[in-house]
Amino acid sequence: MKYVWQDGIFEKVDALCEIFPPVIKDRWKDRIIYNSEKIAAYEESKTVTEEIFWRSVYEIFPGGYEPLILRIKDPEGLKQDMISSRKQEDIEPGTEPVHITRWSNQPEILSDIEPGKKILAVCSSARKGGNTDVVIDELLRVGRDNGALVERMYLSDHAIKPCTGCRACRKGDVKTLCALNDDMTSVIYDKLYAMDGLIVGFPIYTARENGIIANFMDRWDCLANPYLSRKMPEKKKAVVVCSWMWPNPTAYDNVVEQMIILLRLHRVETTDVLTVTGTRGKKHGRGVVKNHPEILDTVYKAGIQFMSNL
Ligand SMILES: Cc1cc2nc3c(=O)[nH]c(=O)nc-3n(C[C@H](O)[C@H](O)[C@H](O)COP(=O)(O)O)c2cc1C
Repeated sequence: MKYVWQDGIFEKVDALCEIFPPVIKDRWKDRIIYNSEKIAAYEESKTVTEEIFWRSVYEIFPGGYEPLILRIKDPEGLKQDMISSRKQEDIEPGTEPVHITRWSNQPEILSDIEPGKKILAVCSSARKGGNTDVVIDELLRVGRDNGALVERMYLSDHAIKPCTGCRACRKGDVKTLCALNDDMTSVIYDKLYAMDGLIVGFPIYTARENGIIANFMDRWDCLANPYLSRKMPEKKKAVVVCSWMWPNPTAYDNVVEQMIILLRLHRVETTDVLTVTGTRGKKHGRGVVKNHPEILDTVYKAGIQFMSNL
């Protein structure tokens, strides 16, 4: 089937692909054409319209590429957004464009929170009092109010070496999880084994999870060793918290989903996600989420649901 591209739209494919270096440009061009025509076929349209083309682009580009898409799709809108981003120090507290999205699709059944449950919160933002930290704080408040045993760990305060890939953890019947000697092996693995509920909080840096959490999660890889004699107990649950500045509330969902899949690989089931987005404002948006009581209320409710189902 030969598809007709609406006048001027095929040129946009080329213009859009200018963002890519030559080594990957053709791959992206092929993907865009293939996906646009697939949508046209599905919708029984012989023409790839402008609407189909942009829908296709948004479908296949990672959310973090959105500013690059807007350079072609809506250059004026992008310019205005960049200006407003530069003026973020002038935003009045309480009027920031910050937004929360809660992912849980479970019915709101709130049983009592069993006292004594162990809640471990891991915060990978080194910005204490930042948005990730404030959301974690609110979740932990639920635990404190209900007799849970809560602990917050700032990963940046810990000595966590990068995995060296020695694969000592892949030897049969491993008793020692990891051959490295640092805070992971002295205390953190034990805390992970002991917790009932985990809060994993990280900000988006350069369109992906920040480096501290990536380094930390690399060190979980020993838990996937099939010969491991001391498996991570099952039935542990997690809530994932992620924060970013870009106002599109779904922009980095793919990054969050990767974290959820990784946690599941390690037998920790994520039951809820809180993404806090559009974190612009004074001090580069530091902790602006605390200026929005309705957001904190959503967080508190999510905390009750999470902890009452542990
Ligand atoms: C090094 C660095 C890179 C960042 N990259 C992005 C980015 O690619 N996209 C985005 O939306 N925000 C980006 N941000 C903004 C943070 O995601 C945002 O400020 C977030 O709310 C920080 O979380 P925190 O307040 O918990 O530290 C970046 C911030 C830093 C410091």
